[in-house]
Amino acid sequence: MAFIKHAAIVLLLAALIGASVAGWIILGGRFDVAVSAQLPQPVHDLIHLTRVNAVRREVRDLDARPIDLDDEAVLLGAVRGFESMCADCHQRPGGDPPALARSLNPAPAKLCEAAEKRSVEELFWVTKHGIRMSAMPAWGTTRDDQELWAIATLVARFPNLTAAEYEQMRAAAMAQ
Ligand code: HEC
Repeated sequence: MAFIKHAAIVLLLAALIGASVAGWIILGGRFDVAVSAQLPQPVHDLIHLTRVNAVRREVRDLDARPIDLDDEAVLLGAVRGFESMCADCHQRPGGDPPALARSLNPAPAKLCEAAEKRSVEELFWVTKHGIRMSAMPAWGTTRDDQELWAIATLVARFPNLTAAEYEQMRAAAMAQ
């Protein structure tokens, strides 16, 4: 009985200390909200790993619906989609990071590298749903799945595209 009483007192004290610390942080605004502030590398790496695993979990039951990009009209449509919806933040194959990318934290992924590690389902899921607490938008709120599958299929091809090949496709897409 005495043990239970002591345990209850310890738990109560722990809860009071926890609530005081939470109040000190929340009400006192003691949290660095600046985008320019860098997280310690191990914390950044843990958040990144959690995000990668969370997306992998989300796509377990998702059927891949990659789009046939051999049809030139569809391919150029996907390039136009990438240009208008993605290229402000993500670099093109062989290109430089856009200016906006340097102002964001976490930084927009290098899609040529990401496409080597992620499945087309993962690329689609992120494009459609976005990533919480980052600048990655949920394009599914305004665009349909067909358009987003086409862009995800294009991004999946990025590792095989040279800067010159992409530039040629971009010129053709923008000329239309
Ligand atoms: C306003 C900036 C912004 C725009 C526009 C944007 N993204 Fe992103 N994107 C990000 C950021 C920031 C991240 C990194 C998030 C993180 O690390 O948690 C990201 C991550 C991603 C990833 C995850 C890569 C990985 O490592 O798994 C994919 C895929 C992606 N974006 C695709 C797209 C596509 C396709 C478009 C256009 C349809 C797009 N993004 C538009 C900012 C943007």
